[in-house]
Amino acid sequence: MTNTVSTVERPRRKRFDLMQTPMEPNRMKVEICTDHEAMSAAAARRIAREFGRDRRLLVCLATGSTPARAYELLGARARKSPALFDHLRVLKLDEWAGLPAGDPGSSEAYLRRRVVRPWGVSPRRFVGFATDSSRPRLECERIQNWLARNGPIDVCVLGLGSNGHLGFNEPGDALRPIAHRALLSEQTRAHPMVSHTVVKPKYGLTLGMAEIFQARQILLLVSGAHKRKALNRLFRGEISTQFPASFLSLHPQTTVFCDCAAAAQIK
Ligand code: GLP
Repeated sequence: MTNTVSTVERPRRKRFDLMQTPMEPNRMKVEICTDHEAMSAAAARRIAREFGRDRRLLVCLATGSTPARAYELLGARARKSPALFDHLRVLKLDEWAGLPAGDPGSSEAYLRRRVVRPWGVSPRRFVGFATDSSRPRLECERIQNWLARNGPIDVCVLGLGSNGHLGFNEPGDALRPIAHRALLSEQTRAHPMVSHTVVKPKYGLTLGMAEIFQARQILLLVSGAHKRKALNRLFRGEISTQFPASFLSLHPQTTVFCDCAAAAQIK
C-alpha cells in the first residue's frame, strides 16, 4: 500500500536536448503524498531505485529540512543493502560561505551526519564546496572543473526555497549557469540551518543553473504549508529568473515529490 495520493504523468522525452524540445509548459511529473513521512518514503524509494540501476551514479544532494527524512530512510536501506551504496558518488549542491569548518549548520556537517556516514560513502566519493574557503572564486572553479570531468549529475535532489531559489540560485534579473558565489537574500539568510550563527552568512557557494539542469534526472522535494505559495507558483507555468525553480518545467526528467500541505493550492 502506498500513501501517494496521486501521480500526474506529463509527456516526457528520453534525452535532454533543448533544440529538439518543443516548449511545452510544465512537463514535470508530480507525486502528491499524504504527509512529509509518506513523501520522504516515496522519494527514498525512487532514489534507491536509481542507485540500483547504476552503482557508480553521481547524485547531487540539497540540504535543509525537507529531504532529511528521505536521507535517513536511505541510511536504513544502506544498513540492509550496503552494496547499493558502495560505488555511488555524492556531490554537495551548495554551501554557506564563510562558516568555520565543522560548523554544525554547514551543508558539510549536514551531509556528513545524514548521508556520508550512514550511507557509507568513502571520502573520495564525497565532493563539495569547502565552507571556510578564503578564495571562493577558486573554490567554485574547482567544483566547476570537477563536474566538467566527472559529470553530468545522474540524479539531482533539490529542495524549493520559499522564494523559488534552487541551491543558492536566488531570484534576480539573471541566473548564473555554473558554480559561483551568490549573494543571499534576507529570506535565505533566515534559514534555520544558520539560525545559531551570530553573523549570518552573506554569501553561499552553489552549483549554477546549467550544471543543475544537465542532470539526467531531477527530484524536487516540497513539504509543508509554508511552501504552498511557492509550489503553486511553480505550477503556474510562467518561467522567470525571479523564480528560478520555474525553469524546472523545461527539464524533461523532473519529478516533484510533495505533501498535501504543500500541494493544497495546486490547480
Ligand atoms: C537552503 C538550501 C537549499 C534548500 C533550501 C530549502 O537554502 N541551501 O539547498 O533546498 O534551503 O530548505 P528547507 O528544505 O529547509 O525548506
